[in-house]
Amino acid sequence: MKTVLKAMLLVGITTAAFAHSGVKDPDVKARMHLMGQIGTATGVLGNMARGTLDYNAEAASQAREALIKGGNAIAAAFQTEAHDPKTEARPAIWENWPDFVAKAAVLEDAARAMDPGSLVGVRTGMGAIGKSCGGCHEDYRVKK
Ligand code: HEC
Repeated sequence: MKTVLKAMLLVGITTAAFAHSGVKDPDVKARMHLMGQIGTATGVLGNMARGTLDYNAEAASQAREALIKGGNAIAAAFQTEAHDPKTEARPAIWENWPDFVAKAAVLEDAARAMDPGSLVGVRTGMGAIGKSCGGCHEDYRVKK
């Protein structure tokens, strides 16, 4: 199980690095990196919920912590209106800043509400976490 998790994390990191190649703006790079970490943690919990990764309380707890911290870090990471040809962030973020920040808080709250202490807890909590990603991407991330 540990090997599987390590492999998944490696895949996550490699994918993120690939997606960021050619991004020059440091703020854009940093926020993409943050989203990549959020994506990796969500992947761990989602795969446990789906049963493609063995449930492990410690790994689930760490991934939840990463989502709480990650959700909390979104506002600061996007505060500067930075642009890059490769960005998927829509300018609407800075036109509706309070709404964007509220949507980041939805993720943080959903992660806090998850009980990582059991597989049922992970499964139950994943619904709201998954919705929080879509709730923000829908309005503020370019669909590619
Ligand atoms: C408050 C808004 C918001 C929330 C909540 C949010 N995202 Fe994002 N996400 C974005 C924006 C904006 C981008 C595009 C960033 C850019 O390209 O500059 C993005 C990009 C991404 C990317 C691509 C990163 C890359 O390598 O370029 C991934 C993966 C991602 N999000 C996963 C998630 C997951 C999984 C969740 C939920 C657990 C989530 N996001 C929640 C706004 C959000």
